[in-house]
Amino acid sequence: MAALMRRYGVGARWYDVLSGERPVYRAGRLAGISLLDLSPGDAVVDLGCGTGLNFALLLDATGPSGVVIGIDRSAEMLAVAQRRIDREGWGDRVRLIRADAAELQPEAVTRTVTELRGGGDGRADALLATYSLSVITEREEAWRRARACLRPGAQACIVDMQPPRGFWRVLSPLARLACATGGADISARPWRMLERDAVDPASVRRVERKGGHIVAVVATVDGGSPL
Ligand SMILES: C[S@@+](CC[C@H](N)C(=O)[O-])C[C@H]1O[C@@H](n2cnc3c(N)ncnc32)[C@H](O)[C@@H]1O
Repeated sequence: MAALMRRYGVGARWYDVLSGERPVYRAGRLAGISLLDLSPGDAVVDLGCGTGLNFALLLDATGPSGVVIGIDRSAEMLAVAQRRIDREGWGDRVRLIRADAAELQPEAVTRTVTELRGGGDGRADALLATYSLSVITEREEAWRRARACLRPGAQACIVDMQPPRGFWRVLSPLARLACATGGADISARPWRMLERDAVDPASVRRVERKGGHIVAVVATVDGGSPL
């Protein structure tokens, strides 16, 4: 736990350059966000948002009235995310909440969405978790709490990692090293929670990138259940 805090603490300012974003992991966020059927004005919860690498893509997909709530436990990662928000002038569309995902209070999220939208019940339209649920140790609880922030019929998307497949298995040691360095459990396959909890199995869509190392799954979920 202490090692993980250090990893996303001191390392926060180097995360965007050292995390393999351009060569590898951006492909997963692009795939996941394009699978999420976002509409103009949607409110999206970005769980374990880190330095905010999803924000520009989410704001593009939701248009000028879309809003994003980024949740993360690391003050240092959030500080980088906040600098990004300030630099890009997204302050009226993106808010950050510092919380352990396994202790997240859904009301903190709905209150923030209501504030940004200037009304409404604050339940979000979509949830995105990129490379975070494999790092979050209490992932079932985090998943349950994140879902409670959503409206019924919301879309959720989990993008995460597994060992590469087929020919690409030669890169397995590298993938395992990348995951271990980031504190991720490469065998967690957190998208299975989404496949399990989808309201309709027909709503589940899945794509793989980088030789199967990255998996993006989207489905419609119930959302809105009180804790
Ligand atoms: C590999 S980074 C992914 C960041 C971002 N989603 C991305 O795609 O670049 C994992 C993030 O999960 C956060 N995290 C780990 N455990 C957490 C927890 N229990 N609650 C909230 N955030 C957590 C870390 O602080 C870190 O920012």
